[in-house]
Amino acid sequence: MSRPDSNSDARDWQFMKKTLVLRINSQEPELEKIRIAADFIKKGGLVAFPTETVYGLGADALNPKAVLALFEAKRRPVDNPPIVHVGDVKDVYRLTKKVPRKAERLMTRFWPGPLTLIFERSEIVPDVTVASLDTIGIRMPRHWVALALIRGSGCPIAAPSANLAGKPSPTSAKHVLDDLNGRIDVILDAGPTHIGVESTVLDMTVEPPQILRPGGTPYEVLKEVLGKVELNPVAVANKALPVEKARSPGVKHRHYAPNADMIVVEGEMTAVVNKINELVCFYVQVNKKVGVLATDETARCYRADVVKSLGSRSDMAIVARNLFRLLREFDLEKVDVIIAEGVSAERIGLAIMNRLRKASGYNIVMV
Ligand code: TXA
Ligand code: MG
Repeated sequence: MSRPDSNSDARDWQFMKKTLVLRINSQEPELEKIRIAADFIKKGGLVAFPTETVYGLGADALNPKAVLALFEAKRRPVDNPPIVHVGDVKDVYRLTKKVPRKAERLMTRFWPGPLTLIFERSEIVPDVTVASLDTIGIRMPRHWVALALIRGSGCPIAAPSANLAGKPSPTSAKHVLDDLNGRIDVILDAGPTHIGVESTVLDMTVEPPQILRPGGTPYEVLKEVLGKVELNPVAVANKALPVEKARSPGVKHRHYAPNADMIVVEGEMTAVVNKINELVCFYVQVNKKVGVLATDETARCYRADVVKSLGSRSDMAIVARNLFRLLREFDLEKVDVIIAEGVSAERIGLAIMNRLRKASGYNIVMV
């Protein structure tokens, strides 16, 4: 058989499969649809499913071939391990060597929910699932479809976000389809996700526990429960840091990035607005199509080609929910440059700022 066209990437040629999209009820998932998806997982297939944070791309975490296929479908570097999703706390004890007391408290308090805990991994976990590390990231998602799929499959499910590597994470089934149509078996479509940024990744193998990636469970809340929590420098960086500082393998790869160039302007709100208008003028003069990622409080202050609002600064949960969708929309409008406002880095804002800064490749202007 010859390759479909001479320009296509040889690695990608194997992927032309039919992707089945199943619309599913988010509160009471239809059993027959769960069964279809779970059968694919059991056979080593790939199923995209909703969680409370973003859509994940799932495979049987204990089947090395299936996990390898997962990396290939996403074009993800194999040194960046996915999170393993469980439907029962008992599974944590099978997948790990020891479960610290503090981790047990966190699981009781925050699971199911947007908190991934890093443990020492047990022998039953295939190397490919953890990128040959001796640790494993585990979480229990707070979504009926995700839980039904995991329980129906009868295995822990390895699931990175269901986007092509480097792209913004998918917050709807359409985003998954845009990136992975023809490369995966099934998409369970339960509508847009609720939180919109990924889980917080917390390393429980060090003392005090350390946040490797800020996310849906705020630092402030973890601190209340644990007393002491550290923030890995990369989690709060406003510039690219050397790789050895990055304890989480994922942070060294380009992430969340739209096709357009991106700039984040941070500082006091009026100064930010003035600076962005100055930058818009500059880019318009050199014939670039400019998009501004604003908030409800400021959107009317800009005259760029495309202005989008993340929502009101008084409701940061909504800002988080809209973030990845708007980054993708700017790409659909084919803007050359996106200029984004920084927001407060408190609570969920820390995750938002982490994603904005990374998406810009740390192209940050402080005013
Ligand atoms: O909300 C989420 O966490 C979503 C949904 C689908 O659950 N998943 C997600 O997965 O964002 P992913 O693969 O896109 O990001 C996983 C992050 C990466 O930064 C990875 O490096 C880190 O978790 N990670 C996974 N295992 C790790 C380990 N053993 N040690 C340190 N970091 C780890
Ligand atoms: Mg991801």
